[in-house]
Amino acid sequence: MNPYAGGTERELAAAVAAWSERLGPRIAAAEEAGKLPRELFWELADLGVLGMTVPERDGGLGASTVAFALVLEELAAAWASLAVGVSVNSGIVAGSLVRFGTLDQRARWLPRLIDGSGLGAFGLTEPTSGSDAASLRGTARRDGDGWVLDGNKLFVTNARYAPLLLALLRVSSSGGPRGAEPPARHAGITAFIVPLDVAGVTIGKPERKLGLLASDTSAVTLDGVHVGADALLGEVGKGFSIAMAGLDAGRIGIAAQAIGVARSALALASAYAKERRQFGRPIADFQMVSFSIARRRTETDAARLLALRAAWLRDVGRPFTREASMAKLYASEAAQRATHAAIQVFGGYGYMREYSVERAARDARATTIYEGTSEIQRLVIARSLFAA
Ligand code: CAA
Repeated sequence: MNPYAGGTERELAAAVAAWSERLGPRIAAAEEAGKLPRELFWELADLGVLGMTVPERDGGLGASTVAFALVLEELAAAWASLAVGVSVNSGIVAGSLVRFGTLDQRARWLPRLIDGSGLGAFGLTEPTSGSDAASLRGTARRDGDGWVLDGNKLFVTNARYAPLLLALLRVSSSGGPRGAEPPARHAGITAFIVPLDVAGVTIGKPERKLGLLASDTSAVTLDGVHVGADALLGEVGKGFSIAMAGLDAGRIGIAAQAIGVARSALALASAYAKERRQFGRPIADFQMVSFSIARRRTETDAARLLALRAAWLRDVGRPFTREASMAKLYASEAAQRATHAAIQVFGGYGYMREYSVERAARDARATTIYEGTSEIQRLVIARSLFAA
C-alpha cells in the first residue's frame, strides 16, 4: 500500500507482476547469451507497457508516472536487464519525443517505440564526457535542408534493438560579436532523432559488463550521417535542457528499478532465512539475520516513497528535479545494501550463480552510476537547496 497510487495504477502493476512471474525460466539463458529475447518486446507492447507514458492521442496508454514507476519496479523485481531497457525506451526516449516532438515526429517515431519492434536508445555519454555532459564533442552541421552528424556515443543502452538514437550533438555557431559574453558550456548542444539503419551508423561490440548481462550496452558511432531537417528535436541549442529534463524522468525509472531489485533480493533472503536451519532452528530466529532484513526492507520502502513522490510531482506538473535525484540517490544506494545483505543471509549459496541474489547484487550496482552517478545526484540536490 502506498499513498500515491490509485486503483488503476495498482491494477497495471499487478498485471505486469503476473506477467513477470512467467519470465523465470527464460532469464538464465538470456543472461548467458547476453541478449533480451525479442518476443518479450511484443509481449510488453501487448500489455501496453512500452507505451504506458505515451498519451492516448499518440497511441499510448496515457498512464501516470506513478503507474510507470510501479510497473518498472515489478519488471525489475523479476529481471533488471529487461527493466532498464524499458525504462530508457519509455522514459527518456519516448518521454522526450512526447514532450518536444512535432506532430509529424510523434506520428513517425512513437509507434516504433511502443509496438514491440524495438527499444529506443539515448546517446549522451562519450569517451571524454560522462558526468560532465556539457563537454560532449559530437557535432552536427547543416547540409542544405538537413544535417550531417558525427560523434561517438558510449554505453548506449538498447543500441542493438533500437530503431532510433536520441543523440545529443553540438551545432557550432560562428561566434558572437567581439567583447560579447563567452558562450555557455552547453551552448549549441542540440537533440537529434537518428534512425539507426542509415549509412554512417556503426554499432560497436556489446560491452562485457558486471551485471545486467542481457541488456545491450554498446557504442554507437556516427560518421558523416546524413539526416533530414525533421531529425531535429526541439530547437537548435536547446538539447542540453532536453537531455536534463529527460534524465529527470529517467532517474525516477532507475530508482524504481533499484527498488524492484532490492525488494526481490530481500524476499528471497526472507524465504531462505525461514527455511534454512542452523544451530537447531531457522536462521530467521537469529536477530542478526532478521534485523538485517528488517533494516534493508525499511530502506527499500522509504526509497519507494521517495520515487513515488517524485513521480507524483511530475504527474501534477510540479518541479521534480530535486526529488527525482533524491529518489535515484537513495534507492540506488539502498539497493547496494539490500542486495549485499541478501547475499550474506544466503552465506556461501548466495555467492553462487545458481541463486538469483548474486545477480541482484550485480544488477543493482549499475544503478548508482547510470543516468547520473550518486555524486551527480548529490550535486543536483545541493545546487537546488542552495540556489540563490
Ligand atoms: N531540466 C531542464 N534544464 C536543465 C536542467 C533540468 N533538470 N538542469 C539544468 N538545465 C539547464 C539549465 O537551466 C541551463 O540552461 P540555461 O543556461 O540555458 O538556462 C543548462 O541546462 C546548464 O545547466 P548547468 O549549468 O546546471 O549544467 P552543468 O554543466 O553544470 O551540468 C549536471 C549539470 C547536473 C552535472 C549534468 O551535466 C548532469 O546531469 N550530468 C550527469 C550526466 C548523466 O546523467 N549521464 C547519464 C548518461 S545517460 C544513461 O546513463 C542512460 C542509459 O542508457 C542507462
